[in-house]
Amino acid sequence: MASPVTQAPPLLLLLLLFVFLLTSSISAWKKDEFRNCNQTPFCKRARFRKPHSLPPFTVSDVSLSDGGLSARLVSSEVPRPLLLHLSVYHGGILRLKIDEDSSTDPPSRQRFQVPDVLLSDLNDRRLWLSRLSSSSPGFSSFYLADGFEAVLRHDPFELSIRRTGSGSDPTQDRILSLNSHGLFDFEQLRSKNDGEEWEERFRSHTDSRPYGPQSITLDVSFYDADFVYGIPEHASTSLALRPTRGPGVDDSEPYRLFNLDVFEYIHESPFGLYGSIPFMISHGERSSAGFFWLNSAEMQIDVLAPGWDDPESPVNGRIDTLWMSEAGIVDAFFFVGPGPKDVIRQYTSLTGTPSMPPEFAIAYHQCRWNYRDEEDVAAVDAGFDEHDIPYDVLWLDIEHTDGKRYFTWDRTLFPTPEEMQKKLADKGRKMVTIVDPHIKRDDSYFIHKEATEKGYYVKDASGKDYDGWCWPGSSSYLDMLNPEIREWWAEKFSLENYKGSTPTLYIWNDMNEPSVFNGPEVTMPRDAVHYGGVEHREVHNANGYFFHMATANGLLKRGGGKVRPFVLSRAFFAGSQRYGAVWTGDNSADWDQLRVSVPMTVTLGLTGIAFSGADVGGFFGNPETELLVRWYQVGAYYPFFRGHAHHDTKRREPWLFGERNTALMREAIRTRYSLLPYYYTLFREASVSGVPVMRPLWLEFPDDKEAYNNADAFMIGSSLLVQGIYEEKQKTVSVYLPGKKQSWYNLKSGVAFAAGMTHKLEVSEDGIPSFQRAGTIIPRRDRFRRSSSQMVNDPYTLVIALNSSLAAEGDLYVDDGKSYDFEQGAYIHRRFIFYNGKLSSSSIRPSNAGEKKFSSDCVIERIIFLGLPNGPKRALIETENRETDIEPGPLVLRSGSSPRALVVRKPNLRIADDWTLKIF
Ligand SMILES: *[C@@H]1O[C@H](CO)[C@@H](O)[C@H](O)[C@H]1NC(C)=O
Repeated sequence: MASPVTQAPPLLLLLLLFVFLLTSSISAWKKDEFRNCNQTPFCKRARFRKPHSLPPFTVSDVSLSDGGLSARLVSSEVPRPLLLHLSVYHGGILRLKIDEDSSTDPPSRQRFQVPDVLLSDLNDRRLWLSRLSSSSPGFSSFYLADGFEAVLRHDPFELSIRRTGSGSDPTQDRILSLNSHGLFDFEQLRSKNDGEEWEERFRSHTDSRPYGPQSITLDVSFYDADFVYGIPEHASTSLALRPTRGPGVDDSEPYRLFNLDVFEYIHESPFGLYGSIPFMISHGERSSAGFFWLNSAEMQIDVLAPGWDDPESPVNGRIDTLWMSEAGIVDAFFFVGPGPKDVIRQYTSLTGTPSMPPEFAIAYHQCRWNYRDEEDVAAVDAGFDEHDIPYDVLWLDIEHTDGKRYFTWDRTLFPTPEEMQKKLADKGRKMVTIVDPHIKRDDSYFIHKEATEKGYYVKDASGKDYDGWCWPGSSSYLDMLNPEIREWWAEKFSLENYKGSTPTLYIWNDMNEPSVFNGPEVTMPRDAVHYGGVEHREVHNANGYFFHMATANGLLKRGGGKVRPFVLSRAFFAGSQRYGAVWTGDNSADWDQLRVSVPMTVTLGLTGIAFSGADVGGFFGNPETELLVRWYQVGAYYPFFRGHAHHDTKRREPWLFGERNTALMREAIRTRYSLLPYYYTLFREASVSGVPVMRPLWLEFPDDKEAYNNADAFMIGSSLLVQGIYEEKQKTVSVYLPGKKQSWYNLKSGVAFAAGMTHKLEVSEDGIPSFQRAGTIIPRRDRFRRSSSQMVNDPYTLVIALNSSLAAEGDLYVDDGKSYDFEQGAYIHRRFIFYNGKLSSSSIRPSNAGEKKFSSDCVIERIIFLGLPNGPKRALIETENRETDIEPGPLVLRSGSSPRALVVRKPNLRIADDWTLKIF
């Protein structure tokens, strides 16, 4: 939840809080609480510098060392040469490191390098450089991947990646370059000059900045690029990043990456929200490429419109970007693609693929700030059953605790938490409680007592435990940068330590940017000090990441390393995908926020975070019923699907709006439950390849220019296209269906639509337009239960949508949904192929899958064909020499619509077995 933004003393704050609660739907984004670029000295200095206006850096002393290229970077501007190191990783990744030479005097402090983000086996994937070639004098070049080489120009310094075999001009056929505009700048650590002002002031706050200016700026150019994407988290209704500077751009801020608790964020802003991932992907018809800067200090990024440097001769097809960071080092990675999925694979090969969630976590979650007490919990739980709406998880926000002391219960409201959880568990349901990072400074609170004794808190600039104001009042913050503290924290989640918890209790980390109500920009002062003398400014954007990591490890430990954790986090950084889900924070109940949720979630997926979603219904304010229904219809497709509401809003459980609306929301939630086998299969794909569950259209149709900036529709996997409805009383909607010579089948009616064109469709209240791509097979489960765990033995339906060659294919992945046995091979992964009138099921199992087996007696009870011409009447199960009927039938059982599909009745084929079925 959001903090009220204020810097008032505690008592006044309580009063203000009260006023906020009364007026929360009226108050809007408090822009003045946050710094803009002009109020941020390093940004202001770097942003408007003219290209090539600084004394140039040159490269000297090039040598091969440590398997890569080492050199010095020299400029008349900097007192000491910088150290440059280039290395290459398998699969098309170039790494550039630039740091100060700490071996020279004056002995300066080490600049911060973000630990524990890159995968630990990365070093094993390094390609050992043994030869440099000089394509031309003054250049060093070397092999990067098949078809690509890296080129280092010495004077002036420029690094580029280009396709090989394209002639001797080293600037030809480039895909990426750095410092082509001479904007690279590196403020070295130094002693303060007499009379120099190092302190920075913003509003009532002073940043002592004991180490002075230490920012880094660099320019990166993407070639063959129509658009760039990524660098979450921002709220924008455009999927592609709009230019922030240059011809045709009104006065705009750069994209800011600085994790903040933004009270009532607006839907159109480059302003930084709760999480930061400094990773950008470019895409054009010819290829895709990527750039990632591993740096957790505040970053500001300009996307420059063509002609920004020279309005007389704008260069099209190249996108220049300017990256400015307050501190840290250059540790940057370039990805060669060439396809967009290759870029995501390359990025997640560094920062990790999304972890496989427990199966319940991809079903529906019901949350509210706050379900009051155990009776309320029981009533909500019963409400779902009474109204035949499935759900899996009930959530408790901060009010369940004893005075916002996490790991405790308000024993008046929640006297028997174990029993409460057990009652839910009996129906296969789980509970999530909130555990925030601010620790109440109360000597009788065991967490505070231990943390104080052990010295586990982040320190303020004077060396005392930092004391900030948050929900519990005066609070301190555990220093999760320290691995020892993370271990200690993880122990707190054991069933013995967390009193009142049971194995079906999971965790939610909110406010971990961190949110500090009375801190500068509602967060911790930049001069606060972490483990190893690291300043908060250096680690800020990874603060929530380390907290999320420690909590997820806690749940992992609780289950003896055998049970998959589930932890939702609001703050995130590169790599957060390994620790759980994130959501888009405190949105509002209005139509624009429904619209913006789609590009925000899609962008998170592109940058590794496959498991995310927005609060369904909007956190602040009361959604009109129509908006709430539409939000369920869109939200049912978010990878993370949760309804949530501010405690000042009216109750909005899905049965409170009349029978008709209950039916519509039930239908939306059931659609998700029926697609769970498909979603689970996609989460498996994401965990293996990094390719997200929810995808922009262009990820599947990289050649289709029409798809490049479509932010209103999205793909779920490669088979499903969904178009949201984002306006009140909308009568018609234009849906662009990508691809060529294909067709798409409406998911409910089975009606076929041609691809490569925009269709104007009537909008119905029943649902939002969704389509299955021809040539695909989607697995479903169509029996409705109370929760996903009650569906484990249910039979499957296969929906086969044929393309013009009357063929289709698709996958189904199944495992126990909760343990790590799948890592030893305990899973079923089938590939279904329909071709030449024959459907076959075969196993996908790499040779290193492991020995463990997963057994299942589940069968396929129904096979639905879309797009079969003159209908066959019978099906022969060849492997068993058994026949069954084919009959016309509906595509969706409960819709009662006219039969548009052909249905193979009760084939009862086991999902575990190989088989073939022939239709005739
Ligand atoms: C039809 O789908 C099959 C299976 O996915 C594929 O191999 C084939 O190329 C597709 N044909 C057309 C015309 O798209």
